[in-house]
This record gives sequence, structure tokens and C-alpha cells, in this order.
Amino acid sequence: MSDISNNNGPSGAQIIIKDLWKVFGRDPKRVLRKELREKSKDEIQKKTGCILAMRNINLEIQKGQFYILMGLSGSGKSTLIRNLIRLVNPTSGNITINGENITKMNHDQLLQFRRKTFGMVFQHYGLLPHLTVLDNAAYGLKVRGLPKGERYAKAMETLETVGLKGWEDYYPVSLSGGMQQRVGLARALTNEPEILLMDEPFSGLDPLIRRQMQDELVELQDKLQKTIVFVTHDLHEALKLGDRIAIMRNGELVQEGTPEEIVTKPADAYVEEFVRDASPAKVLTAGSIMEPPKVLLYAWEGPKTALTLLRSNKRNAAFVVDKNHILLGVAYDKALEKLLEEQKKPDKIPQAILKKITTTTEDTILEDLFPIIKAAPYPLPVVDEKGKLMGVVTTDQIFESISPLEGVNHD
Ligand SMILES: Nc1ncnc2c1ncn2[C@@H]1O[C@H](COP(=O)(O)OP(=O)(O)OP(=O)(O)O)[C@@H](O)[C@H]1O
Ligand SMILES: [Mg+2]
Repeated sequence: MSDISNNNGPSGAQIIIKDLWKVFGRDPKRVLRKELREKSKDEIQKKTGCILAMRNINLEIQKGQFYILMGLSGSGKSTLIRNLIRLVNPTSGNITINGENITKMNHDQLLQFRRKTFGMVFQHYGLLPHLTVLDNAAYGLKVRGLPKGERYAKAMETLETVGLKGWEDYYPVSLSGGMQQRVGLARALTNEPEILLMDEPFSGLDPLIRRQMQDELVELQDKLQKTIVFVTHDLHEALKLGDRIAIMRNGELVQEGTPEEIVTKPADAYVEEFVRDASPAKVLTAGSIMEPPKVLLYAWEGPKTALTLLRSNKRNAAFVVDKNHILLGVAYDKALEKLLEEQKKPDKIPQAILKKITTTTEDTILEDLFPIIKAAPYPLPVVDEKGKLMGVVTTDQIFESISPLEGVNHD
């Protein structure tokens, strides 16, 4: 087969889906003709007997992204994810992965590409009942022809990663649903795929186990940084896991964006219905609501200037930064006055009189700010990884931004 280059296409995305259509039924291409292509899914079905599963889908997925597909039953999520490995072939359109147009690959190229690039985890674990946990986890490597020692060593490693050490010699039947799904995940990871495809992997699990699996997947993804395409019906799962979410309806892509965009700016009534139960506190971040501080003191301007600035703004304290905008702490008027009374008159605000305070980062969700803000008397400073002050968040801002968009009673 031709060498699969690592060029991710001109747009830089790892997966590029362009004008993708899937119609099931006899002579499906006729549905793409002018007189039918704009018709509703129902109408197409009535006129032709064909089922429209995807209509003109365009989207891009970047390397390392956790990408969620959501939508009601029958909206085309599974069809889309299966198209990515051509378990289903598109009726029209192109899919480019790592710069390779997979819609143009022949059978052998496709087999090799699938094995090398993808790991797949399904809702119904799909384990082989007559194989042990270890053999199930090592299955993909066996197919690839790796020697036994090597594939077992790798499978042991991934089983440990998913928390199944000690279960290698058991058969799937003796494992709980959550554990079986871990084997499914281990099997996918053993191949060291670049891209993980997960079609409702946690839907069959009890809520508690499900949440635990989500947490573990978040942790795992932190380490692995794979590209993950993940189908779910569950909004909270989507918000917790996803970097981006695509919402489908009747085979069409209705909205695509970050969890925050989807929750705060639903494109239409359908999406609105989906996100109705979403708590903004779980998606809005400190970075999205922070404001510049009302008064900011610069250490090098000295205590006299600082005190004047505080007085003219009628404040008794403010944040102090250095020349690189690194947050040094909070200066109180009392401490500044005392310093000046002592006749020391340093030309810089000395570090010793500054009070250290709790900070937060731009990507912290509001829900995680509640306990901090409760304990802090001042606005909460938001800093970057170097300690640079990016903005401040106040209790008022937090409560304003999480109050429901509608439902305000003006009576
Ligand atoms: N093999 C097939 N033959 C005919 N129609 C199909 C086939 N697979 C899917 N469809 C149809 O395509 C549409 C999209 O189905 P798909 O399975 O992709 O939906 P989904 O969003 O994954 O739904 P669910 O949430 O129920 O899994 C549906 O109308 C379905 O009936
Ligand atoms: Mg499905």
C-alpha cells in the first residue's frame, strides 16, 4: 500500500469529513439528485424507500481532541463513526485521515490502515467468550501477527492501565459489565491506535460504574492524548468528556462547538432541548467570565503611588503585579500607611507586606470555584501557568453567569 503520510491535510486536522452522505437502500445515489437531495428524510423514504442516514456532513477533528457525537436515536451517529473505518461505505463525499483519503482505499489498504490507526470500543463489549481476558486484550496484536510473548507483555500493560491486573486468566463471563468494558478498552488500547472510536461504550453500565469509567477515561486521556471520537446520548457525559461536541438530527449536523458554546448558544430549539438540563456551572470556566481587576498596583511604582491609587478609588486593598504582570499578592492600605509612617519609603512595594492569596486558572469550571470563593474575601485572581494575572472573578460574576438564561420573572 502507499505510505500513509503524517500530513494532516492543509487545514491541519487529523480527520477531515467533507460533503459526506450515506443513504441506505436500493440505488442510493439517486437520492443525491437535485429533485431529492433537499427533501426531508421522511419524504425521501416515502418516495424512494431509501433511508437517509447522513446528509452532507462536514466536520474536522484535530489530533488529540476528545470529540463527541450526540443526537437522538436514528440521527446518524453510529453511521458516521462507522464511516470513519469504512465499516459502512459512504454514498458520496470524502474522509481524509492523516492526509490519506480513506474513501479511495482498496480492501487491503483499508485493512492495514484500520489495524494501524484505529481502536474501537462498542456498547456491547464484543468480547470473545471462549478467550481469557488476556487473550481478548491481546487479540488485535494476534491478528497483526505479533509473537505471543510480545503481545502478552503489551496486553498485560494495558490491562493494568485499565485496572484489571490479576484478572488475566478469567473468562469474560465471570466479569461484571464495567469490567468487561474495561477489557474492551484494553483491547482497543493494546494496538496503540492513534484514534479511538467509542460508540456509546458506557451506556450499558449502572450510573455509578458509568461515572467511575468516565473519570478513569478522563485520567487516561490526560496521559494518552489520543484522538477520541465518542458517541453518547448523555449530555453530562458529553460535557464531562468532550473538547468539542457535534449534534446531529435526522442525518444532519445541526451544531458543532465547544461544550460551552453548545450550552450557552444553542443553534436551534432541538439543541436547546438537548442542553436544557445542563448546568452552566459545569461548562463555564473562570477564563470565560473573568474581568480585568478594577484597581491594579504595580510593585515598581512604589508604596506612595499605590496608596494614592487605592484612596482615589476608595479601596482598602488591591492586587500587586511585577513588570511581567506576575501576581505578587494583595496590598492593604493599612500596611502601606504603616510602611510610609516608618519613614522607610522604599521605591518598590516590598514583598513582605503583601498578603498571599489563593488563585485559580482560566480552565477551572465555575462549580470548582464555589468552595474557593466562599473562603476568599476578595475577587479571585485568575493566573496562567507562570503566575501571570489574567483577570479576576467575583462572587457576583459567578452567580450572574450561572443564573438560568430564561425563567426570569418580570411580573
Ligand atoms: N444497515 C442499515 N440499513 C438500513 N438503514 C440503516 C442501517 N443502519 C442504519 N440505518 C438507518 O440510518 C439512520 C441512522 O442510524 P444510526 O444507527 O446511525 O443512528 P444512531 O444515531 O446511531 O442511533 P442510536 O442512538 O439509536 O444508536 C436510521 O434511520 C437507521 O434506521
Ligand atoms: Mg448508534
